[in-house]
Amino acid sequence: MTNLAIAANGLRKSYGDKVVLDGVDLTVPEGTVFSLLGPNGAGKTTAVKILSTLVSADAGDLYVGGHDLAAAPQAVRAAIGVTGQFSAVDGLITGEENMLLMADLHHLSRREGRRVTAELLERFDLVAAAKKPASTYSGGMRRRLDIAMTLVGSPRIIFLDEPTTGLDPRSRHTMWQIIRELVTGGVTVFLTTQYLEEADELADRIAVLNDGRIVAQGTAEELKRLVPGGHVRLRFADPAAYRSAALALEEVTRDDEALSLQIPSDGSQRELRSVLDRLDSAGIEADELTVHTPDLDDVFFALTGGASTLPNQPKEAVR
Ligand SMILES: Nc1ncnc2c1ncn2[C@@H]1O[C@H](COP(=O)(O)OP(=O)(O)OP(=O)(O)O)[C@@H](O)[C@H]1O
Ligand SMILES: [Mg+2]
Repeated sequence: MTNLAIAANGLRKSYGDKVVLDGVDLTVPEGTVFSLLGPNGAGKTTAVKILSTLVSADAGDLYVGGHDLAAAPQAVRAAIGVTGQFSAVDGLITGEENMLLMADLHHLSRREGRRVTAELLERFDLVAAAKKPASTYSGGMRRRLDIAMTLVGSPRIIFLDEPTTGLDPRSRHTMWQIIRELVTGGVTVFLTTQYLEEADELADRIAVLNDGRIVAQGTAEELKRLVPGGHVRLRFADPAAYRSAALALEEVTRDDEALSLQIPSDGSQRELRSVLDRLDSAGIEADELTVHTPDLDDVFFALTGGASTLPNQPKEAVR
């Protein structure tokens, strides 16, 4: 059996009479990336704060790094690093000073603190900016500094709460590379994100949180199988052609305003050919044809948009 870096059973948290986490169960094996997805206000940050000892839970059996969170929060703290949704970087001091401050907090000797700081600044491409106030850093630099600070104590488990929100595509890819390298080094990563592509890229397992409950959990592939999102979309410039096509094809969903039709499809050549054959024999030509395979966006919308949009949901993939 693999060792679990994080295990939560029946995690509950309310603020006043607002139930934020309503019995969350999750497990994260060591050396893997777990991603928690969910709409704004779903409770992601709350879960991160509880599992990283910053906020206490109302109920639940919680283990992080093999330690009982309720009984041994200090031991948990020693095993983890946290990069919050809102930066811990102090803008008034330099990047290097921010790092040295972290080293102090982790009780590293002055010499060891300097060594770790130099190494991490190098690794995160912050050497040139090290002596400048962090307030002058770009968003991407600040985010890199934030993660570098998290790594000062060599944590085995790190929590990253929306590590790439607001970053440009290049900086986002840099961050993904950093996260992959951490995992290669054996670190366990608990990641929240608004970017489904990010979870798809990085996560071994994904959980979707909605209304304080985990509504689905699995690999990206397993989650994608939950939604019937695969379809062919045809767009027409001519309203008459659009109407004829809507009559000629079966199972179409119409969008009368966009003059586009959506036909369920697995994206196979056979299904595409059958659509094209029907159009041909009716003498209709579409102006645009696109094939859409389900992605995590479809999963997200289906699972967090209300219950009725998810037909035929296989039971075993949902916990
Ligand atoms: N300290 C607090 N006091 C009262 N309510 C809180 C507190 N912290 C969070 N909440 C509420 O708990 C709910 C979940 O908040 P949380 O920040 O965990 O969501 P989130 O999933 O991280 O959202 P986002 O995607 O916007 O970051 C929200 O309704 C929020 O208003
Ligand atoms: Mg949040």
